[in-house]
Amino acid sequence: MPKFELSSASPAKVAADLLILPFYQGRDPGPGLSEIGKALGVDLPETLREHQITGHPGDSLTFPTLGKIAARTLMLVGVGPKAEAGPGSIRRAAQRVAGRVARFVTVATALHQAGDGGPDPMHAFAEGLLLGTYRFDRYKRQPIDDASQQKPALKRVVALVDAGADTKALKAALRRGQVYAEAANWARDLVNTPALDATPEVLAKEATKMAALHGLQCKVWTKAQLQKAGFGGILGVGSGSVNEPRLIELSYRGAGTSRPIAITGKGITFDSGGLSLKQPEWMETMKDDMGGAAAALAVMRAIGQLKPKVNVIAAIPTAENMPSGAAIRPGDVLRHYGGKTSEVLNTDAEGRLVLADALAFLAEKKPTVLIDSATLTGAAMIALGSDVAAIIGSDQRLIDDLRAAGTDEGEPLWQLPLWTDYRRLIESSVADVKNVGNRYGGAITAALFLKEFVGDVPWAHLDVAGTAFTDRGNHFWPRGATGAPARTIIRYIESKAGGR
Ligand code: BES
Ligand code: MN
Ligand code: ZN
Repeated sequence: MPKFELSSASPAKVAADLLILPFYQGRDPGPGLSEIGKALGVDLPETLREHQITGHPGDSLTFPTLGKIAARTLMLVGVGPKAEAGPGSIRRAAQRVAGRVARFVTVATALHQAGDGGPDPMHAFAEGLLLGTYRFDRYKRQPIDDASQQKPALKRVVALVDAGADTKALKAALRRGQVYAEAANWARDLVNTPALDATPEVLAKEATKMAALHGLQCKVWTKAQLQKAGFGGILGVGSGSVNEPRLIELSYRGAGTSRPIAITGKGITFDSGGLSLKQPEWMETMKDDMGGAAAALAVMRAIGQLKPKVNVIAAIPTAENMPSGAAIRPGDVLRHYGGKTSEVLNTDAEGRLVLADALAFLAEKKPTVLIDSATLTGAAMIALGSDVAAIIGSDQRLIDDLRAAGTDEGEPLWQLPLWTDYRRLIESSVADVKNVGNRYGGAITAALFLKEFVGDVPWAHLDVAGTAFTDRGNHFWPRGATGAPARTIIRYIESKAGGR
């Protein structure tokens, strides 16, 4: 992890292995290039044009400076059109160039200055850089760095600021950016870890360690304890696996005895579909089915570090969905925490079964709001693709606030309706509710199932089946977990905290 610092040195004079300067897409690349261009004796805007570097976020051109300025190498980085430049484009730009930036030891940067010079662009810069340098190479004999095979060298990041800048606010923003990104990257590690090594027990142990490090209360419910308390959904889904299920309870107290914000997330460490077995291709990425749980854990980690003035509780159900002689069968009825029953017609609709228990458990604690995130349905993916997650819930204010936080963090959410007429699609002839609807509107019927368990607590459900994991990788994300929607929920919680 590099060290971040501020400096009011001028770009031409700052000593660094790499100097990063932003430029805008369009006719006028911005004022930042002229001083350095003069020092180098190069018409930088003309050079960008010649090389057809247009300036989309993260488009870049790198030059040796040959001793003409203090930095040894110069990297011009696009941040999109000037009118749109801000935290979002800065985060994307930083994320996209991070792999190349990480080959230098000391990096000076003015990338954040493409924004308004305030804390938000600084936060976005630090966040983007750390998200972008993430690699999952624990299982590689030789660490990977894209094609170059070079190891990351980055040790120091010097953010250049104006002499009169509010350094206290900017330093705090740098730190917040780091905390957010590190939380997301930790979630990515948990999700990317193969299910062989990330069993419910392992997740619970990671949570326990994390809680001790960051000053949170943690209680792990074992199978026997879940049986005693009647967590039939978690137990039912976990019954086919030799890896026993757990419920991970965490709490953070930042505001005395006031009512907490409650969060949960789907923690299926592997989703084979159970007896309603998936096809092999659909199983390839199903180690990611604990993405919601990993995000909830990461939120608690960040909250432990940021210490906002608010109380937060989490109850995270985790189980492995496997077929076996001990597995639940289509037609079985499970009794959830709190007593409601569900008829399991498809064992591959398992996420809602474990979440039902956790939601009922959390609703009992009378939280101000209840937020769950889950890689719940292929239907959400079909509806919104892999960049946008679905949000469905019972409280419009909560949904709007979460959507705003998602936009700010570059994790966009789009609302689908909690269409109560579709409740008829999950009416069961033998139990209180059944766990599948028909072929259509699958993200909505899944949410309606969850709604059965939240009582009258204001609730929002984030279906991140499309966004928690990138199957193919792109400019911004390597193949694998993204950590979504952890940063959105952290931001939401911070926004609800009384004065930081
Ligand atoms: N974990 C899957 C949903 C999923 C699919 C996540 C693809 C990420 C990528 C979930 O448990 C599931 O299997 N859902 C079924 C529900 C159906 C049986 C009602 C689905 O969406 O097909
Ligand atoms: Mn499933
Ligand atoms: Zn699943």
